[in-house]
Order: sequence, then structure tokens, then C-alpha cells
Amino acid sequence: MIVPTTEDIRDLHERHAPSRQAFEIVYGHCDIVRRIAEQLMAGFDGAIDKDLVRAGCLLHDIGVYRLYDADGNLDHANYIRHGLLGHELLRSEGFPEVLCRFCSHHTGVGLTKDDIVGQGLPLPPADYLAVTAEERLVMYADKFHSKTTPPTFLTADAYAAYVARFGAAKVGAFRALRAVFGEPDLSRPVL
Ligand SMILES: [Fe+2]
Repeated sequence: MIVPTTEDIRDLHERHAPSRQAFEIVYGHCDIVRRIAEQLMAGFDGAIDKDLVRAGCLLHDIGVYRLYDADGNLDHANYIRHGLLGHELLRSEGFPEVLCRFCSHHTGVGLTKDDIVGQGLPLPPADYLAVTAEERLVMYADKFHSKTTPPTFLTADAYAAYVARFGAAKVGAFRALRAVFGEPDLSRPVL
């Protein structure tokens, strides 16, 4: 598989972003997640495809563009669908499944069929869990930066506290990711 270059992915974002502001929020976030993941990989001694992680980070939130209306407002009620929308967007662009999955399998610390049915989430009931080391790292790195206004960084402790509201299984899933990949130095990716 040929992994798309950073320039190709940036072009794809520019093509799908409904506005310059949306591009800066979404691509800017994806690029910060890429830098966080690269930092985490520097301290990770397991087998991992770094180029695939780069592309996965840069692509993972591209579906967010499909949630903006004509006035530039984001559909927050359906935000949880952005991963699936990104998967569909990349598939329609001819991307292979291994890349599409970075979109549909990065939400939270993994969505299960029970989460979707139990919480009535607007997604087809299925498990959307990160499986490979690359998928798990993209999911994990994403947790340290939020596209709020203004964008903010979260420490591992802050995310652990946040995820507690979703139950013990989610706390355990985040703890497992933290044990595998460690914690980033959040003062560095913003440079
Ligand atoms: Fe993200």
C-alpha cells in the first residue's frame, strides 16, 4: 500500500473543508495529533508503522467537515458520527480500508455495540474499536488535544478524569493505552 504524503492529505483537507476556518481547526488539530503521536513513538519500543501513524493522524478527523452546515455551524448533536463520515469520505476517494479505519475507529477509547445501543448513539450498532498498534496510537494521541474554541491540550490525568463518566471499562481502556504508549510532553508539540 502506498501511504499518502502529508502534502496529498493536506490537499484533500483543503478540498473537503467548507471554509478556511474549518480547515484550520480540523487540519490544525490533526497535525498536532500527528506531532503528539510522533513524540510518543520516539519512546515506544514495539513494532509500529510510523508512516501509517502519520497518515492516520492527519486523516482521522476529516469527516468533521461533513458536519458543517451552509452557515458554517457544526452539528454537535451528530458529532459522534464524524468518524464514520470520515470513513465514507475516504472510501469514496478510493482510499484503502486500512486508512479509512483511522476515521471510524478513533472515537473516545473505542465505541462498542453496547455503547451505541445503550446510549442511543446515532451510529449503526457495531464495535468501533482500535485494533492495530497504529490504530491504538492514533486514538490515544487524539485524546491530548481538543478542537474547542480556543483549542486546548489535555493531560493524561485530565482525560482519565473526563472518561470516568463513561464507566469503569473506559477508564480501564485508557489506562491500558497509557501503559503501552506513555505520556507526551505537551509543551513540545505546540512549538
Ligand atoms: Fe481528533
